[in-house]
Amino acid sequence: MSVKRKILATNALPYANGAPHLGHLVGTIQGDIWVRLQKMLGHDCMYICGSDSHGTPIMIQAEKMGITPEALINQVRTQQERDFADFLVEFDNYYTTHSEENRELVETIFKRHLEAGNITKRTIRQLFDPVKNMFLPDRYIKGECPNCGAKDQYGDNCEVCGATYLPTDLKNPYSTLSGTKPVEKESEHYFFKLQNYDEFLKQWTRHGHLQEQVTNKLDEWFKDGLKEWDISRDSPYFGFSIPGETNKYFYVWLDAPVGYMASFKNLCAKRKDINFADYWESYDTADLIHFIGKDIIYFHALFWPAMLHGAGFRTPSQIYVNGFLTVDGQKMSKSRGTFIKARTYLDHLQPEYLRYYFAAKLSDRIEDLDINFDDFSQRINSDLVGKFINIASRCASFINKSFSGKLSAEISEHMLYREFAKAGAIIADNYKKLEYSHAIRQIMTLADKANQYIDEKKPWALMKDPGRHQEVQDICTAGINLFRILMIYLKPILPSTAKQVENFLNIPPLQWQDKDEPLLGHKINDFQPLINRIDPKQIEALKMAAQQDIDKSASAPAQAAVTPAPAKEPVKEPAKEHISIDDFNKIDLRIAKVLEAESVEGADKLLRLKVDLGNETRQIFAGIKSAYQPDQLVGRQVVIVANLAPRKMRFGVSEGMVIVASDGESGNLFIVSPDSGAEPGMKVK
Ligand code: MSP
Ligand code: ZN
Repeated sequence: MSVKRKILATNALPYANGAPHLGHLVGTIQGDIWVRLQKMLGHDCMYICGSDSHGTPIMIQAEKMGITPEALINQVRTQQERDFADFLVEFDNYYTTHSEENRELVETIFKRHLEAGNITKRTIRQLFDPVKNMFLPDRYIKGECPNCGAKDQYGDNCEVCGATYLPTDLKNPYSTLSGTKPVEKESEHYFFKLQNYDEFLKQWTRHGHLQEQVTNKLDEWFKDGLKEWDISRDSPYFGFSIPGETNKYFYVWLDAPVGYMASFKNLCAKRKDINFADYWESYDTADLIHFIGKDIIYFHALFWPAMLHGAGFRTPSQIYVNGFLTVDGQKMSKSRGTFIKARTYLDHLQPEYLRYYFAAKLSDRIEDLDINFDDFSQRINSDLVGKFINIASRCASFINKSFSGKLSAEISEHMLYREFAKAGAIIADNYKKLEYSHAIRQIMTLADKANQYIDEKKPWALMKDPGRHQEVQDICTAGINLFRILMIYLKPILPSTAKQVENFLNIPPLQWQDKDEPLLGHKINDFQPLINRIDPKQIEALKMAAQQDIDKSASAPAQAAVTPAPAKEPVKEPAKEHISIDDFNKIDLRIAKVLEAESVEGADKLLRLKVDLGNETRQIFAGIKSAYQPDQLVGRQVVIVANLAPRKMRFGVSEGMVIVASDGESGNLFIVSPDSGAEPGMKVK
């Protein structure tokens, strides 16, 4: 075997303001499979996580529930630990960022940067809620879009027209916490001079620590220029206070990643065989791997390496980024009925089904991953039950009944066995590279071969001829050995099934290298059904329960992890004024044909469209992602405003606007299209 490595893997720390949902499981399961593989290969690998326990949303949520933030974070942490454990995610430590270890480490890092001249202080103006007596993070401010006038838009972008802006640009802004109009107020903040690390980060991000897609994304950010990072918040805040200050706290994202170190430090205190410095202060002794979701790349690939490097700690060996989970093609959301809590799933289905389904869809690309329950049931029933488990159930009964549980002393199918064992190298390689879907495909191809082998040999027919019983025992011994190899390959994904198989085969825990030696002349135990088929009724029950959770959280706002709508004055509709035909003629409406459509990374609501306007093509950003899948749009004709001034957005320039029908409230959108026969470029009047 290759040299034994020391590896510390982490998963992003979920916020302690709500129970885990299926989206949180993408990264935790992806990391868990990777860690289990490393362990099976004989490496010394640990997996660390914890709750991200600070910040305004946690403070507000606790207030709404009428409990202290400490009580809330303890409650949520317990639930997170239990849910992840029940999904067979094996963390070596699940800690919290609200801990003494974390406070000490954050203070050390802050102090070192302060001394190195990387921290500066300056006064900024921000929106302040005079009733709640607090500065308002963007997500607590709503108002009318400065671009199109749509009501109840969040402080950074408009769901209706897709414009991006600053919260101070909103018209008639109100605080979602108190419903009052915020005022602008000054305050002194601390900033981390990220730009001091420009050269360092340009180097670091191009040296094999990141997936290619991430490096490309970062190049865009480098082009925009690195900016100072605001790392302090004024009271009231739930977090660590800044040493030497009254009423100022570290921003949650400063202490959150330090929580990885704190969780590990806490583990070191419990386990005498590991040493903090080996993992965080030197590059030679261990590898440091972070698993995160695509929304938090900036924090992990820019701020975090800069914070570590400048404070004299090692930087990560690798950051692995996963895409987002969608349910039936829709973003997970309560309003769409696609929000599923981890616990609700567990009440109806086996955790290994989800682990297998995710693995079958995961690659090292940062693509969103969709769970479609028909596809889900079909995959589990046909792959796991129909192909994999079937091999064992076809062979075991003969061995148990006719050969008193004893396997033959020799393997009759050397070639086939070798072929299976040899595939282990490439399968392990695919796991290491996060190409889990490739690994699964290879494993299922082998499963097909094993089933074919049994089909051809027909042990059930041979069994009728007393002179050929030895052959039956040999065939079933080969079948069980092929099954055993497949179990080794699936063990990182199906740890609980693996345990049952180890009992059935009467063997110690399977390691990767066990694939090379068949199990012979050995007594096995009775076969028990290992994985059950999914019954459509279970899926129905899960969907109903998920909907009930959503209804419950809507009717009991104190329990909900979302901000309820604020009490506010009803706004009077302004009387509609008439416009002249000349006014109308100023708007150049045209038929356009959608040539390309794609999601925009970093924008929940936007699609980037390329449209054909007859004699030119245009790029348009349209806020229609909630209602349309990109590929539904390609080839469709739409109506656009062709003479709208081009608008520079964070993602590029938008050269027009797509006309949609909407009631402005439900979020339902309908693209307006011409009857057939219209041509791109035609004027709409
Ligand atoms: N607290 C921060 C992370 C701090 S790490 C030092 C945070 N928390 S979170 O609860 O919002 O998300 C935790 C992890 O789950 C992140 O990696 C995030 O990307 C991931 N996901 C949250 N929703 C998700 C989906 N719908 N799909 C896939 N991953 C998702 O961010
Ligand atoms: Zn707008």
